[in-house]
Amino acid sequence: MLVIVKEDYDEMTREAARRVASLIRKKPDCVLGLATGSTPLGLYKELIRMYKEEGLRFSKVTTFNLDEYVGLPPTHPQSYHYFMRVNFFDHIDINPRYIYVPHGMTEDVAAFCQWYEEEIQKAGGIDLQVLGIGANGHIAFNEPGSSLGSRTRIKTLSEQTIKDNARFFERFEDVPRYAITMGIGTIMEARQLVLLAGGRGKAQAIKETVEGPITAMVPATIVQMHQWATIIVDKEGASLLSRTYDG
Ligand code: GLP
Repeated sequence: MLVIVKEDYDEMTREAARRVASLIRKKPDCVLGLATGSTPLGLYKELIRMYKEEGLRFSKVTTFNLDEYVGLPPTHPQSYHYFMRVNFFDHIDINPRYIYVPHGMTEDVAAFCQWYEEEIQKAGGIDLQVLGIGANGHIAFNEPGSSLGSRTRIKTLSEQTIKDNARFFERFEDVPRYAITMGIGTIMEARQLVLLAGGRGKAQAIKETVEGPITAMVPATIVQMHQWATIIVDKEGASLLSRTYDG
């Protein structure tokens, strides 16, 4: 596991963008696993800049998003479909047929989840998975206690995640209680993981992820088992780490 500590948020997201861009240049038809949340916003901004200014092309890239809220249609401004369109897909030359985001309004969740897993396999598997981390150590919507071998499925959101996400909704009651999420087993099959975390609020989760024992109670700790996992943090996110890591 490689831990890279960057001076600030911008440097952290630029480092992540360099890694994603280098994969796309090497393998134009690569498969990316994408994340939502405020943390990867800078990464998407930088990739859009590279598309506009440096000729980075996405036309052959396939993407699979990690998760989506149950009950929100793709047109809902807080849905992850909407987030991805507005913050990334609408600004690049990606082929809409190659975009996969779990569908929060699906009627048969189990069948949908199985289909999603199969589509990942058919695409050849995920080459690089971008990850954020919840303050409680969740990855995607795999909350504490999730099976470390889990596959794409429906999950109940934890109280903390509901509280953390309430800032995006008008009323607390509007925050969805369930999500469809790739499982931890699904995520671990990606050939490369790039986990981003910035700010004080993530420092404890990062300490446990990098230096703590592997436990389902902190799902992100599983990345210690991945052969090609890179954790990119800013100074604040790294502030509780006890060892020195690469800059
Ligand atoms: C949500 C997403 C996660 C993301 C997390 C942290 O729970 N499902 O994939 O990592 O939020 O979000 P932020 O980056 O806004 O702190």
